Amino acid sequence: MNIVRRPRRNRQSAAIRDMVQETLLSVTDFIFPLFVLEGQNIRSEVASMPGIYRYSTDLLLNEIQACVDLGLQSFALFPNLPESKKDKYATESHNPDGLYLQTVRSIKDRFPDVVVMTDVAMDPYSSDGHDGIVENGKIVNDPTLDVLGHMAVAQAQAGADIVGPSDMMDGRVGYIRQMLDVHGFQDVAIMAYTAKYASAFYGPFRDALDSAPKFGDKKTYQMNPANSREALIEAELDKVEGADFLMVKPALAYLDIIKLLRDNFDLPIAAYNVSGEYAMVKAAARNGWLDGDRAMLESLMAIKRAGANVILTYFAKEAAALLAYR
Ligand code: PBG
Repeated sequence: MNIVRRPRRNRQSAAIRDMVQETLLSVTDFIFPLFVLEGQNIRSEVASMPGIYRYSTDLLLNEIQACVDLGLQSFALFPNLPESKKDKYATESHNPDGLYLQTVRSIKDRFPDVVVMTDVAMDPYSSDGHDGIVENGKIVNDPTLDVLGHMAVAQAQAGADIVGPSDMMDGRVGYIRQMLDVHGFQDVAIMAYTAKYASAFYGPFRDALDSAPKFGDKKTYQMNPANSREALIEAELDKVEGADFLMVKPALAYLDIIKLLRDNFDLPIAAYNVSGEYAMVKAAARNGWLDGDRAMLESLMAIKRAGANVILTYFAKEAAALLAYR
């Protein structure tokens, strides 16, 4: 056979494959989402997310230590609150003595060098389970901004390095940026959930936090999965309003959106490999239907190859352990 170009030449040994490998995963790519709940000495597994736990603050600190020992240095924190702490205006979200802000403080006290990203959204604290204030069955945009702004400032006061508005209200990045600056938090970064889609893949997360909407869905604020050009509009707005990172969420079903933002913006691009994406791999692996470790690393690699600099993933700890022993 007269075949001049033989791509297989560059695949014939592990050393050559390593040499020509275009994308490398690193433990520093990951942000590990963590769930905190009230109480002491509590560790409760999320049924739909095997291997992922809600921790009381004391045990959460131990878990972070174990992650730091594996080289992880960034964490995103989410609270699970009892219904009794929820109300229409998510008041608990800016209570400096509440579970969430106290936990942020404890983490930064014990691990001053780790990056703590906080979640700016009403849903874990909202008796309506929505990301905005509900009036007459509608999620109202502008009054919500004030709640989000106060929440972001309270999180910055507690020591957050990055605030992550995951609510999808219009104008919130600019509003939060201004509120942070007015309060002297010029150095606190904003990771905007830029293209956050109204996705079925958030189901297990809502189980973890008991935060499912009490009525309706999130389609009046989260994006339609059918749209990609609209992601460019959101990205442009977040950039102009002062975002330091643009995020795409979910990740695996939206690799084209990650690539689209990568090609059109020079800000760091983050991708959120969400709860349902984690659950799918775990469920199949449990059934022996696929190799969980390989599917995990391949998924993370795909997200990075598509153009994400930063990956929020429930696989972070497991992947860190595997990458360390490769
Ligand atoms: C809500 C929020 C959600 C997630 C992060 N922040 C769910 C939602 O929009 O209902 C989902 C994360 C995941 O599924 O892993 N502010």
